[in-house]
Amino acid sequence: MSSDTANPFHGLSHKELMALAEKIGTGMAVLTVASGSEGAGKSTLASHFAIQAQRAGVESVVIADTAARGPLAAWWNRRTGPKPSMSSLGGAAQVPEALGRLREMKHKLCIVNTPHVMDDKVEQLLEVSDLVVIPCRPSRRDLPRADQVAEVTHMLGRKSVFVVSAATIGARMSEAIAVELAKHGTVSPVTIHRRRDFIEAMEQGKTVMELDPRSDSAREMEQLWSYIYELLKKNIKFSI
Ligand SMILES: Nc1ncnc2c1ncn2[C@@H]1O[C@H](COP(=O)(O)OP(=O)(O)OP(=O)(O)O)[C@@H](O)[C@H]1O
Ligand SMILES: [Mg+2]
Repeated sequence: MSSDTANPFHGLSHKELMALAEKIGTGMAVLTVASGSEGAGKSTLASHFAIQAQRAGVESVVIADTAARGPLAAWWNRRTGPKPSMSSLGGAAQVPEALGRLREMKHKLCIVNTPHVMDDKVEQLLEVSDLVVIPCRPSRRDLPRADQVAEVTHMLGRKSVFVVSAATIGARMSEAIAVELAKHGTVSPVTIHRRRDFIEAMEQGKTVMELDPRSDSAREMEQLWSYIYELLKKNIKFSI
């Protein structure tokens, strides 16, 4: 039996699935940021997604930081503006139960930040994600690691999208990497460029949108979130 025919929701339209989700109260989407490369931009994207999701109207956002005590936790502690809830998900075996609890608390969106190592827990997280965002810097070193995360996600029956991150403005390499990534999966049409305000925002517990809402970085992040959110809504599964 194929995985599609084993799925009790097989054959329902997107609209019917959304109506069903409302009815049975499975209204929390899980968006995971993973890369397989250290410093690819996971924590920067996770924090910015959480705030941009709130700014764009998602009612209750929770961040699950599985890369505990890292820059994302420091960012959250420094933050003085409106902030999402923060949760840790426990060990690999506790992940479904922990997500179930967040769902019961009526969070609408859980953004999961992961460490760069691909261990059992990260695999478990990929498996329960509605969408996996894979940041990849425009470097030949990051490329195979990003591909590996996409491959594992695909094997687990989940969707992923690559985001070229920290790209040097005007450098040809970013386009070349996007072309390479496109051979292995979906690539975001929005690239996040390397700019000082991303570093300053993280250091101050803010986002680039809050530092200067009219900046190029803010525009990129707003466009990226719109794109990711549409993709997420299309891919919501009901397995938790
Ligand atoms: N678009 C960007 N422009 C400039 N600097 C950036 C950008 N994105 C990330 N950085 C910087 O690169 C470094 C790594 O980013 P970040 O911590 O988000 O990566 P990570 O994938 O979470 O790393 P780790 O694997 O260690 O968890 C940080 O100093 C961050 O401020
Ligand atoms: Mg990180």
